[in-house]
Amino acid sequence: MSGDARKTAEALTYLSGFGNEHSSEAVPGALPIGRNSPQRAPLGLYAEQLSGSAFTEPRAHNRRSWLYRIRPSAAHPAFARTDNGTLRTAPFTETAPDPNRLRWNPLPEPEPGTDFVRGLWTLGGNGDVTQRSGMAVHLYHANSSMERVFSDADGELLIVPERGGLLLRTEFGLLHAEPGHVALIPRGVRFRVELLDESVRGYVCENYGAPFELPELGPIGANGLANARDFQAPVAAYEDVEGPVEVVNKFCGNLWTATYGHSPLDVVAWHGSHLPYVYDLRRFNVIGSISYDHPDPSIFTVLTSPTDTPGLAGVDFVVFAPRWLVGEDTFRPPYFHRNVMSEYMGLIEGAYDAKAEGFVPGGGSLHNMMSAHGPDRETFDRASAAELRPQKVDDGLAFMFETRWPVTLTAQAARAEHLQRAYDDVWQGLERHFGPLH
Ligand SMILES: [Fe+2]
Repeated sequence: MSGDARKTAEALTYLSGFGNEHSSEAVPGALPIGRNSPQRAPLGLYAEQLSGSAFTEPRAHNRRSWLYRIRPSAAHPAFARTDNGTLRTAPFTETAPDPNRLRWNPLPEPEPGTDFVRGLWTLGGNGDVTQRSGMAVHLYHANSSMERVFSDADGELLIVPERGGLLLRTEFGLLHAEPGHVALIPRGVRFRVELLDESVRGYVCENYGAPFELPELGPIGANGLANARDFQAPVAAYEDVEGPVEVVNKFCGNLWTATYGHSPLDVVAWHGSHLPYVYDLRRFNVIGSISYDHPDPSIFTVLTSPTDTPGLAGVDFVVFAPRWLVGEDTFRPPYFHRNVMSEYMGLIEGAYDAKAEGFVPGGGSLHNMMSAHGPDRETFDRASAAELRPQKVDDGLAFMFETRWPVTLTAQAARAEHLQRAYDDVWQGLERHFGPLH
């Protein structure tokens, strides 16, 4: 990818908040003023609404955008089924839900010519895509830029690069995501992934449920955690391409393909709230204890997908970013715990403070509902004996997809050669220390 692409992708506007209106036009005058669908849209464009929520959802959750494009999206031929590759979708029924603690090494290198869509490899998930509930955990690895265009009717895609930069050409413009960033492609938005490095790798949370939003802050106040102004939306940029373009549509778990006579990335102007965005995880304002203990990791929530039960997320995206640990008389690494929520963890760089080894960038672990986990023996011994000076944890960037439902594995994840067969051993040798008081 040329330097121009990197430069263009950095030309972003700031989102001032979620659910707010934003607008952009690649050509002056392309955006109609005062109405969404005038009798004749400016510059001979077609006006089209893209709804990410029901028309009638409350304003705080309502998502829709108006797109002003060279041709309406309706101008396409019939879709036909195509191979799903290693992509799988809820409901996940290939294996029995597994109560074991599980951990994987990174995916093996992909075959030459693997683009982002072909390189999606589903680990597992939950819910039912036809009910718009639940989530899937995917990993991706690719060594070829997409020439086709992709869209996902089944959910939004939270892309977490771990290796290599991505240029996302979306209907709304360009986004640039490097390791340490996350990029979100809303449900139904078409995009193409071009590689900024020879080989790319990372994680994807496909969220079938309500769109991710910022968590409420409660007593934290008006600032903190992920600040809204740090989420960046694209500026409008369009392709005026006549000629065959393959468009792949993921619909209720299957991939469908059609060859358009033009590029569908032909949006000249847009306004609305159903938008792609990128966020730099290093801007996360980490909040923690300044007395003793440490809060539950919910304090590290970047984005949450609410459900009908207040406080109970379909999926939370949580980041373990660099931070100071200052707690007195406190076991400072993550404590031993069993959680009704199910936790998939990945590592973007460095190391994670609850594990001495075996949890590596590009790998991941799954601690399903009520499975017992926490620090390994080496970490427990070290942290129990450590002198409790203020300590900076700055050698890693880990994240978690935490979901209210257990994650059921795909067959390929359950049988994968890169599944670690002896993960349980990290908790072996935790010695008995109990003894009567003297
Ligand atoms: Fe956990």
